[in-house]
Amino acid sequence: MLNIALFGPPGAGKGTQSEFLTKKYNLFYISTGDLLRKEMAGKTKLGIEAQSIIASGGLVSDEIIVQIIEKTITDNPGSNGFLFDGFPRTYIQAYILEGLMLKLNTSLNCLISLNVPEEESVKRLLNRGKTSGRSDDNEQVIRNRLKEYNDKTLPVLQFYKDKGIYVEVDGTKSIDEVHKQITEIIREQLSKSLFNIVLFGYPGSGRGSQGKALAKHFGLEYVATGSMLEQEIKLNTETGKKITELYENGQLVPDEIVVQLIEKKLANSKDVKGFIFKGFPRTLVQSYILDGLLKKHGSSLSMIIEIEVPTLELIQRLDERSKTDGCMPYDSSTARIVKRLQEHEQKTVPVIEKYNLLHGVIKMDGLGSFEEVFNRISYAIENGFKSMR
Ligand code: AP5
Ligand code: MG
Repeated sequence: MLNIALFGPPGAGKGTQSEFLTKKYNLFYISTGDLLRKEMAGKTKLGIEAQSIIASGGLVSDEIIVQIIEKTITDNPGSNGFLFDGFPRTYIQAYILEGLMLKLNTSLNCLISLNVPEEESVKRLLNRGKTSGRSDDNEQVIRNRLKEYNDKTLPVLQFYKDKGIYVEVDGTKSIDEVHKQITEIIREQLSKSLFNIVLFGYPGSGRGSQGKALAKHFGLEYVATGSMLEQEIKLNTETGKKITELYENGQLVPDEIVVQLIEKKLANSKDVKGFIFKGFPRTLVQSYILDGLLKKHGSSLSMIIEIEVPTLELIQRLDERSKTDGCMPYDSSTARIVKRLQEHEQKTVPVIEKYNLLHGVIKMDGLGSFEEVFNRISYAIENGFKSMR
């Protein structure tokens, strides 16, 4: 996800730059100013409360801001992240944004401040006032908005300087110039961030073979917990011995072991562009674990894909595989195959539903030849990459 906040005095060009940015990076746009104007136009309770404050050039209360943001931000499936314009404007709002990002299991990449001297702001807004129809675009109110900005909003910058995610651009340059400066900042941000994919699908849907091939094609690290466990057994490590013992007693491998293995993998994967997770997360608990693990590495999920294949075809495929060298211990009988499918249905489908609500899951048709499916998924990933970079 890419989350950006545009900061700057009235007239700095926040709204103007937002137009480019939301389109270019497919971001969900949140302008508290626009949201308030919508409330005022609809004569809602919040709108009526905000009206006189906005008309005088003051800042509306943090309580009102929380309410309109909560109303807007519930979910944003399909977008790559958020673009905040004119928020946060107070120290309290900076904390509100922190909480909001936490709730959505993501974080603000950077706050971009458009620096423009006062007289330029006034000149631009008076000019805009000729056509904007905004009641607050007159000199007296503009001066008051600037005063509020200096008193209450400017101090917020320290919050982001302390966090190390404050960047500034010269807002006095032409619209195109400013756009170029911002694009460069975002490019840098994105090159720092990992592209992480979770590949879902029923056993037999092809997620393993596709996952491996996709990882190779896109230069991502393939993380398959099943084979990681097998590897530990093969290498006869301490963890491997523990896993063998659990298997022999018919017990499940506890999440702690899986977490340790993934942690090790993430820590050892330097200079990678991102990860493809397959077979993890399998349960809701594991989905929280993955969110936490990525967060610990300053990262988050970029894309969630589910390969869809009808059940009958799945059973056929697994049955065929059981007759080949690729036979897995768990597809040696029809009863076991059915059990695996049921397990996926009960434990993993709720995880997919959760992700669908939070980020949107890209459903991919898993029927056709290996190449056909591969091309289909590659195309989706490529688009994801493009809109992110
Ligand atoms: P809001 O709507 O956010 O207004 P603002 O911060 O005063 O900013 P503007 O929209 O006036 O300026 P902008 O930076 O978007 O500039 P624009 O791109 O239009 O808030 C309004 C009110 O709502 C506040 O006063 C407050 O009461 C309340 N409010 C909102 N959010 C709040 C919050 N979080 N907490 C509390 N209260 C809140 O550009 C301006 C003009 O300049 C345009 O005509 C444009 O064409 C031109 N221009 C842009 N860039 C350039 C350039 N590079 N060169 C030349 N001209 C340019
Ligand atoms: Mg604006």
